[in-house]
Amino acid sequence: MTLKPLIAANWKMHGDMSWCDKPYDFADIYPPTEREHLDVLICPPAVLIFPMMEKCGGTDIWLGAQTCHKEKKGAHTGEMSAEMLASAGADYVILGHSERRAMGESSADIRVRVERAKEADLIPIICVGESLKERESGDAEAVVGTQLKASLPEGLTDYVIAYEPIWAIGTGMTATPDDVDAMHRFIRGEVGPNVRILYGGSVKPANAKALLSIPDVNGALIGGAGLEMESLAEIARLA
Ligand code: G3P
Repeated sequence: MTLKPLIAANWKMHGDMSWCDKPYDFADIYPPTEREHLDVLICPPAVLIFPMMEKCGGTDIWLGAQTCHKEKKGAHTGEMSAEMLASAGADYVILGHSERRAMGESSADIRVRVERAKEADLIPIICVGESLKERESGDAEAVVGTQLKASLPEGLTDYVIAYEPIWAIGTGMTATPDDVDAMHRFIRGEVGPNVRILYGGSVKPANAKALLSIPDVNGALIGGAGLEMESLAEIARLA
């Protein structure tokens, strides 16, 4: 089975209301008729999901959130539930990004968030990845394997994994194609043939071809280079 590539931009805490037209800008640069073979997703800050959906709901670009809360509702000041994000227009939600794991989110927390996301009909993109120290000590696969086992609820279907080595995020460093190949094969062995596995960590137009041509790389989760529609489109053209 060939998996449809997914090119996803994680805007993190960047953007404002003036960015809500960006899906149209993307569609002008890379028209939908030329990219029916792939899915394009933008995950803006949550406050921009609804206005983007209102402005650009007519484009074929998916919208996603960057996290969701573990509870469905309640006294959780400042938080947002999966259902709220879905009702605002989100189709996907990134969960367990290392920037959130670093703030104390455990794999057990992420597993509950994945369950909430599925109940709200959001497709979870579950992030895993090792630190530089863990890679250098030869523990990368063990770390990622443990994260996968603890973050994925039993019987989970229709989800995406993003492998993001922590040391490659926002640093300009990327894992070598051989390392990415080995890790994605390992993850494939854990999740089976039907799950898209994205690579994330300093993906840019200059390295996207080498990364996206690795057999078990089914797309990319892009930070910095996903803020500009020109570079996001350039990467998407290589998928
Ligand atoms: O989620 C995407 C991310 O963490 C990678 O960021 O800026 O290295 O592409 P960046």
